[in-house]
Amino acid sequence: MKVISVQPGIAASTKLEERPEPPEKSGDLLVQALGLGICGTDREIVAGNYGWASTNNGRLILGHESLGRVLEAPEGCGFSVGDHVVGIVRRPDPVPCSACAAGEWDMCLNGRYVERGIKSLDGYGAERFHLEPDYAVKVAPGLGMLGVLLEPASVLAKAWDHIYRIGERARSWQPKSVLVTGAGPVGLLAALMATQRGLELHVLDRADGGPKADLVRTLGGTYHARSLPKDLGVDIVIECTGAPQLVIDVMCGAGGRNGIVCLTGVSTGGRKLPFDSGNFNREMVLRNDVVFGSVNANRRHYELGARALAAADPKWLGGLLTRRVPLTEWREAFERRAGDIKVIIEFEPAAS
Ligand code: BGC
Repeated sequence: MKVISVQPGIAASTKLEERPEPPEKSGDLLVQALGLGICGTDREIVAGNYGWASTNNGRLILGHESLGRVLEAPEGCGFSVGDHVVGIVRRPDPVPCSACAAGEWDMCLNGRYVERGIKSLDGYGAERFHLEPDYAVKVAPGLGMLGVLLEPASVLAKAWDHIYRIGERARSWQPKSVLVTGAGPVGLLAALMATQRGLELHVLDRADGGPKADLVRTLGGTYHARSLPKDLGVDIVIECTGAPQLVIDVMCGAGGRNGIVCLTGVSTGGRKLPFDSGNFNREMVLRNDVVFGSVNANRRHYELGARALAAADPKWLGGLLTRRVPLTEWREAFERRAGDIKVIIEFEPAAS
């Protein structure tokens, strides 16, 4: 079977290669890949800037945004042949720490977790792969290829879950408005979930207009190209770009009092920017502000993400899948092209 593999740390080492079928593993599902979403993390790995090899000859099978169809399922495991499934990305650390032991591997305390397609565990970028039922999530087959959005949706479901837990530190908290920075797939899924919570939505992106702006407006949100109006004073900010200057800008003033800023973008370090930490501290304290980071997702968040996708307009969700690349042309999926939102590799095009 064909797999997309990479030598982490080495740029231009990604290739489509032939590997034996996945070895029998009792208790696991055997899954036929249908689609694979490509995100910034995959592009970082392909560029040699992120990722850890699995034990397999220093390479890593790429891919963590999966969608597949069950080919074989052990008796009584809760899954049946033909089910559409998405694989959870992270696996608990071996100790395990108290968070991983409680099923909250997204909050791992010792950093020894592994992640399929990212950190020390082969990913889902293979024609067929094994998946432990405990780390498989069912998606409605009616969603077709849109099911590939579940992994990024789980990451935002976690961010929203934590935002509300933090907000509820004050019994009087009643958020009304949110600013999302970045209108890529992560930002747009954050925006979707904002409107599902009845919040007034603002989205900022570099694009002057086009499909991203249209998707925001269809949600009933206000689209801001390049810059924000002064004193927006929103209750919640979800930063989805990781762009260093924008991160500083949202931390230092995009939110209102008791504001919550959630950072979800993984930036590349090394660029030093001026930052007035005294003023930042003063504002944080005097306004009861919170800035926090959020990464990954546990099973509960995948289930919340699946609910959010099921409640969304499929036509709107379809607008996020802007480019579908057949497996044979896989290289094109890693290129950034104008108009791209979510690019996917199709393993079995019939799934759409
Ligand atoms: C994935 C997360 C993962 C993170 C860090 C993101 O692209 O969606 O599941 O935890 O990268 O490796």
